[in-house]
Amino acid sequence: MSSPLAVVTGASSGIGAATARRLGAEGFHVVCAARRAERVEALATEIGGTAVVCDVTDAESVSALAARVDELAGEIGRSGLDVVVNNAGGAFGSAPVAEGDAEQWRAMYDVNVIGLMQVTKALLPSLIASGAGVICNVGSTAGRIAYEGGAGYTAAKHGTQVVTETLRLELFDQPVRVCEVAPGMVRTDEFALVRFEGDQEKADAVYAGVAEPLVAEDVADAIAWVVTRPPHVNIDELVIRPRAQAAQHKVHRQT
Ligand SMILES: NC(=O)c1ccc[n+]([C@@H]2O[C@H](COP(=O)([O-])OP(=O)(O)OC[C@H]3O[C@@H](n4cnc5c(N)ncnc54)[C@H](OP(=O)(O)O)[C@@H]3O)[C@@H](O)[C@H]2O)c1
Repeated sequence: MSSPLAVVTGASSGIGAATARRLGAEGFHVVCAARRAERVEALATEIGGTAVVCDVTDAESVSALAARVDELAGEIGRSGLDVVVNNAGGAFGSAPVAEGDAEQWRAMYDVNVIGLMQVTKALLPSLIASGAGVICNVGSTAGRIAYEGGAGYTAAKHGTQVVTETLRLELFDQPVRVCEVAPGMVRTDEFALVRFEGDQEKADAVYAGVAEPLVAEDVADAIAWVVTRPPHVNIDELVIRPRAQAAQHKVHRQT
């Protein structure tokens, strides 16, 4: 039997790379998609998958991803795409609303919401054709609450959540599950560094004193579980936090 086919966006680092590795280990042929070619190529070679350079905010780039997925499904003998993990995303800046930067806010909406929509739209025919597709969107606990300095990101991640819910309603009669995995604090190499524009000190402060934040592999484990349930089982949402983070503002830090 041929390997099931999965696409992971944002596979060049952090949660996306860990998810691609994990799904590869679970027997999927994984399409590793992100903008940094060298990274997705190295990962695809490591796990025996396929690299596609893709910017999820660019409609043409996303169309090319979908065309490659169709081609690949034919090559490996699948009727369509089994899984897409919409993971590409991120936070840019942490200014209060009173000092908000419209460009940063647009960029967050672009990647966390519009990118997710474009990838989903482009891959949906193939997911339906598979007969048992799964869409797993990587949201955030920032899509459930508000925190000071977080409005641009929390607004975008609330968008991720609402789009996920809407899509589940719209696809209720289709053979496609729609799920969200929403992590709390995950220590990945780049997320906080990207948010604070390369300021390592600020990035480190996010995790200061937290003995064991989640790591990318913890979230990959949750995603792998969600997408490998039997086809009639839809995990609507899975919130995953480190034990030290009882709520967004309630973090146990050892001083
Ligand atoms: N770390 C956390 O605490 C945390 C918590 C909750 C949720 N999340 C969410 O989890 C996801 C992954 O986060 P992470 O911590 O793994 O961060 P990360 O290491 O910064 O990874 C972000 C990934 O998204 C890709 N990406 C960014 N813009 C893209 C675009 N326009 N097109 C295609 N790919 C793009 C990046 O690759 P390229 O730059 O190569 O394109 C990178 O692979 C994000 O959606 C994030 O919002 C993270």
